[in-house]
Amino acid sequence: MSATTQPQPAPSTGKPVRRVTVADIAKMKAAGERITMLTAYDYPTARIVDEAGVPLILVGDSVGMVMLGYEETVRVSMAEMLHHVKAVVRGTRHTLVVADMPFLSYGVNVEQSLENAGKFISDGGAQAVKVEGGVRMARTIEEIARAGIPVMGHIGLTPQSVHGLGGHRVQGKSVESARKLLADAFAVQESGAFAVVLELVPAELAAAVTERLKIPSIGIGAGAGCSGQVQVITDLLGLTYGFIPRHAKQYEHLADRMSEAITAYASDVADGTFPTAENSSSMDAAVLDEVLGTGELDRAALARAAAMMSDDPIPLDRDL
Ligand code: KIV
Repeated sequence: MSATTQPQPAPSTGKPVRRVTVADIAKMKAAGERITMLTAYDYPTARIVDEAGVPLILVGDSVGMVMLGYEETVRVSMAEMLHHVKAVVRGTRHTLVVADMPFLSYGVNVEQSLENAGKFISDGGAQAVKVEGGVRMARTIEEIARAGIPVMGHIGLTPQSVHGLGGHRVQGKSVESARKLLADAFAVQESGAFAVVLELVPAELAAAVTERLKIPSIGIGAGAGCSGQVQVITDLLGLTYGFIPRHAKQYEHLADRMSEAITAYASDVADGTFPTAENSSSMDAAVLDEVLGTGELDRAALARAAAMMSDDPIPLDRDL
């Protein structure tokens, strides 16, 4: 990633690092710099992504499927999202953190949308929120943005409405659905969003939408013509079970490497090769001798300790 328009992380200097802002993201689009976004759901991963200089982290509701074992993202609650957003924010100093608003936490009425978006900023510490939906979500985006909360839109395949869309299908292949996608993109932009995710959209249509928008488009399964790309980090790192989407590129196979490490640990414990002296601490032999050498434990001290932990003190004459 080029360093021309946005502040770079300085993890080792200990100096304060400026966080990426939505204005930096707009500058990247204006300068023609491709924008990288990745999901993260926990503190250690967020630190690694932050220190790698990735400008945008999405705490996606994909957390439900890839971290919590739900079958669908619609199962994720506000409380679960907030928990993960807080962990990610604690792990970042540079990256702009976008909190994904979970199913029905927005769009029901303005008050509820504002209250929940506000929780991600004031309780969670995120810098922006993401909502799914184009034309139908225009009013919601407008109200949240007007309250001073940066909003990222999300159109094309919107997983929270997957049942209505008839499954995880590419969106915008017909004249009608391509027109709808264009209308959604403009509605999101005109409502005041700072960027829009295009998910599972034909590459040609995504490129045409991107050319026509002033705000950056962030693609996932939408080809190389978008202003930036987002990926679910577990797909990228190979920390998944079963299905890997076609649009994902696996840069690592962490599940295999973790499995190897865990098997090696279990085998070391089983055959007694872990822990070694290096993994243990030792004590002065004279102290141990004094405790054990008399052949007598300090019964009174043990009884006093037990009494402190129980309402039913151990009698001094009990065989310890
Ligand atoms: O929840 C998520 O991870 C997302 C991305 C797929 C854009 O919404």
